[in-house]
Amino acid sequence: MPPYPKIQALYLSANYGAPGDLDEALQGVDVVINLLGMYPESWAQLGEAAYRTGASLYIPSEFGPDHRSFDYQSPFEQKRVQSEQTREKGIKSVQIFCGVFMEHALPVGRHLGIDLPGRSVTAVVPTGGSDPRVSFTSVTDVAMTIASVACRRPSVLPDAIQIASGTWTLRQLGEYYQSLIGATVHVTTQDYLAFRESVLNSDHQSPSSHYQLAAGAGLLDYSTTNSNDWVSAGMWEWRSIQQHLTGI
Ligand SMILES: NC(=O)c1ccc[n+]([C@@H]2O[C@H](COP(=O)([O-])OP(=O)(O)OC[C@H]3O[C@@H](n4cnc5c(N)ncnc54)[C@H](OP(=O)(O)O)[C@@H]3O)[C@@H](O)[C@H]2O)c1
Repeated sequence: MPPYPKIQALYLSANYGAPGDLDEALQGVDVVINLLGMYPESWAQLGEAAYRTGASLYIPSEFGPDHRSFDYQSPFEQKRVQSEQTREKGIKSVQIFCGVFMEHALPVGRHLGIDLPGRSVTAVVPTGGSDPRVSFTSVTDVAMTIASVACRRPSVLPDAIQIASGTWTLRQLGEYYQSLIGATVHVTTQDYLAFRESVLNSDHQSPSSHYQLAAGAGLLDYSTTNSNDWVSAGMWEWRSIQQHLTGI
């Protein structure tokens, strides 16, 4: 296990529109962790301030699908820019990809068409193909990962990592929940190509429809490509989907 220095985590408040304010807030900060929602302008302002104030590591606001493998345009594309900009300035930037937050999708959530208490799941599946697996990650595991990455020397860090607390097909989710409640959970499927056509031709490119699209394409399965062991280094147990659904 690498030696972990003691670090102090601070939540900082600043006016993003006033560069002086942001610089003042970031004085003496080594690692800048961007936890903002989808605000690309603020991401750029924060990245520039991290550069001006001499931060050595920037963790951009990713925490979602690994859009590097998408062969179509998506709203997540905007996230790529923030890392490129900070890297161009010479700051190490580590993108953390995690699939879907468990807390936002299970047992019910708008991200993936899952409504387990309503006993319905809609899965986007390729025609004639097997059900794609989808990685879910608990917010706690994301937070632990951020802390683990932030503790390490920037020079030993990769540019991007994938993590996954648990990975199941949506059908498996429905079947598991069915066994918990003793009542049928209906799993309906949508053809991937038709769904892709409707999403990509829509005037409104919502992140949730893009989570479903990526899931249907099999691009949210990080079960074999994740860096879980390296990141946790035996320091914590990853939360399982069963633990989340049963509240253990
Ligand atoms: N994988 C998943 O399933 C999943 C789900 C949700 C989110 N995410 C990702 O997680 C990250 C955080 O998302 P979130 O849902 O926590 O975001 P959020 O709730 O939309 O925003 C987080 C914070 O950003 C600040 N903020 C609001 N407007 C701002 C602006 N114009 N400029 C600067 N800051 C502003 C606010 O902080 P104050 O309250 O301090 O003003 C807000 O609490 C994002 O990258 C998002 O894509 C992933």
